[in-house]
Amino acid sequence: MAEATQQERRRTEQHDSGLGLVSPDQSDVIRLEQVHRIYRSGDVEVHALRGVSLAIGRGEFVAIMGPSGSGKTTLMNMIGCLDRPTRGHYFLEGMDVSQFSGNELADVRNRKIGFVFQAMNLLPRTSSLENVELPLLYAGASPREQLRRAREALASVGLSDKERSVPSQLSGGQQQRVAIARALVNRPSIFIADEPTGNLDSRSSLEVMEIFQRLNREQKLTLVLVTHEADIASHATRIVTVRDGRIRQDAPVASPRSARETLDQMPPASDEAAEEAL
Ligand SMILES: Nc1ncnc2c1ncn2[C@@H]1O[C@H](COP(=O)(O)OP(=O)(O)O)[C@@H](O)[C@H]1O
Ligand SMILES: [Mg+2]
Repeated sequence: MAEATQQERRRTEQHDSGLGLVSPDQSDVIRLEQVHRIYRSGDVEVHALRGVSLAIGRGEFVAIMGPSGSGKTTLMNMIGCLDRPTRGHYFLEGMDVSQFSGNELADVRNRKIGFVFQAMNLLPRTSSLENVELPLLYAGASPREQLRRAREALASVGLSDKERSVPSQLSGGQQQRVAIARALVNRPSIFIADEPTGNLDSRSSLEVMEIFQRLNREQKLTLVLVTHEADIASHATRIVTVRDGRIRQDAPVASPRSARETLDQMPPASDEAAEEAL
């Protein structure tokens, strides 16, 4: 019995190597190996990440939780190629980006990663459409292509009717959806969101989660989201808990909550009701 199993395993191994199949490691879109990050200022050292190893496959939706100061933002900066490990390696789609120069990192960031932060950083006196067009302008797309793709991105976050609005004419939730459209427009393969619902009411937070779940499902977008709210994290497919610069827990979510279902059960939004009353 045991022998048969062993033979079976050998055969499988030979089979795999013979066909040159991709090993599970290579299919990870994100892989951190023993990553350390030490901040130094003068004589003071802060050991923000203390040997983090983490592998995330394509199409996963991972929530990162942990108390303030535990290293979540440092970890996100690493995954988003905004920073490099002091020690250890980071493989992004198999490339060892921990060895990349600043310019190479910027290039990877622009091509592969979409960022959504708590502060939306939209240009104030600029329409939604122009805010979303901006990354395409930098990427050198033609004006026609900019318009087409910006419109498409705004439609995918449900804001086609707000193309001409400037940020001050939008609610916080709508502004965050413009920021999501802006992050989407270069068609990144990974979305990094650090406390994207931190400033939003519960309905707007759910609308953001609904968009993330849809992008994850329909476009197989890989999502990594930092939140300190357990009910937000429960929309992800996996929750990683960080404490003192280390991963303390890493577990799949048995049945992730559906933001769509929760929204459908809520009464109509007050701003929608107000608009209808006009
Ligand atoms: N640029 C920096 N310089 C020095 N220390 C920093 C810097 N950024 C973060 N830290 C420190 O690193 C630790 C982790 O911070 P951070 O990653 O921001 O945690 P979190 O996002 O979980 O609140 C904290 O002790 C913080 O004070
Ligand atoms: Mg943080």
